Amino acid sequence: MVRTWLATCAIALWVLLASGAGAVNVPRKNPKVPPGFVTTSGSRFELDGKPFGFNAINATELPVALESNLTYYQVWNSSQWILNDGPQGLQRLDHVISTAGKHGIKVILAFTNNWFGSDLFVNWIAGAGQPHDVFFTDPRIIASYPGEDFDHDLLLPNIDFGTYHLYPQSWYTELDFPGSNWTVESWGLEWIDDHARAASRANKPVILEEFGVGGLQNKTDIYPKWVQRALDTNHAGYAYIMPWQWGELGLTESGGNRIIKYADAINHGASPNDGNTFYINQTAVWDIFT
Ligand SMILES: *[C@@H]1O[C@H](CO)[C@@H](O)[C@H](O)[C@H]1NC(C)=O
Ligand SMILES: *[C@@H]1O[C@H](CO)[C@@H](O)[C@H](O)[C@H]1NC(C)=O
Ligand SMILES: *[C@@H]1O[C@H](CO)[C@@H](O)[C@H](O)[C@H]1NC(C)=O
Ligand SMILES: *[C@@H]1O[C@H](CO)[C@@H](O)[C@H](O)[C@H]1NC(C)=O
Ligand SMILES: *[C@@H]1O[C@H](CO)[C@@H](O)[C@H](O)[C@H]1NC(C)=O
Ligand SMILES: *[C@@H]1O[C@H](CO)[C@@H](O)[C@H](O)[C@H]1NC(C)=O
Repeated sequence: MVRTWLATCAIALWVLLASGAGAVNVPRKNPKVPPGFVTTSGSRFELDGKPFGFNAINATELPVALESNLTYYQVWNSSQWILNDGPQGLQRLDHVISTAGKHGIKVILAFTNNWFGSDLFVNWIAGAGQPHDVFFTDPRIIASYPGEDFDHDLLLPNIDFGTYHLYPQSWYTELDFPGSNWTVESWGLEWIDDHARAASRANKPVILEEFGVGGLQNKTDIYPKWVQRALDTNHAGYAYIMPWQWGELGLTESGGNRIIKYADAINHGASPNDGNTFYINQTAVWDIFT
């Protein structure tokens, strides 16, 4: 069966903050890196040799045209990968990258994703119908894709930085139960500390690349603590966080929604809320990040 695979164009938009503030002129580590690309130096990010801090979002609306098969970057045709370099394939990606560039926005591309990519490896290598989690246990799949060990992977010489996610509510439903010593908040703080320690050991930056809790009150209560801890444990003096997720208001098909016009669901008004979403009108949460 030919299956489309969305090479999760999980587009992380890094909005540049005043990166020049307190800048120290350190030459770029790799002189082959063209100007305008973010690099790392020790535990910090740099842009053209200056410290780089950011506020960022993760725009999943861009790749979700999965059911309609309208947008995909490559497909496994039973014998080999076929790149889609047409208008609904890599040309869309080109458009996103070039638009980001025009606005001074930095982009991270995720090559695959737990929800949109691993099933393909499972079907292809372990056989159709095998459960999703086989991705993480089948030795052949592990051999075809990095095995996951955060501390180990972060030490690899060709790895510049690490990323981690934080969703304790859905990962551990027992948190906040009477008699438990872990609250969602305290579990998150420990998780941030753990990754800060890994970052120190490797002398590389780490990004808290996705995090979320449900409910406006929980967000208002918990996010300031997590953000502060990320800031306090970061040697570079930046938080390096990307909250999941900023919502959009006032989308219209002909205007603001054009970017997701070819997604399965055309959204009018507010972008979808998966429970973690917060909107610009929810200032108590929005202001934490802006
Ligand atoms: C998209 O592709 C899948 C898998 O090949 C197929 O089952 C489905 O019918 C396709 N959807 C559309 C709308 O073409
Ligand atoms: C897969 O793609 C290759 C290259 O285009 C082609 O030669 C081959 O016939 C295709 N296989 C199938 C099963 O479509
Ligand atoms: C963005 O979200 C996707 C989907 O959860 C995830 O796979 C990816 O790692 C995230 N990417 C970045 C750069 O945050
Ligand atoms: C919670 O912490 C207290 C004090 O350290 C300890 O006595 C207790 O056993 C812990 N409870 C659980 C459920 O871990
Ligand atoms: C807010 O957090 C509390 C405590 O963990 C939890 O019981 C509640 O379900 C959360 N609210 C939402 C909307 O997720
Ligand atoms: C903000 O916008 C969201 C999405 O449209 C809506 O559900 C919510 O009621 C609005 N909140 C306020 C305070 O206006």
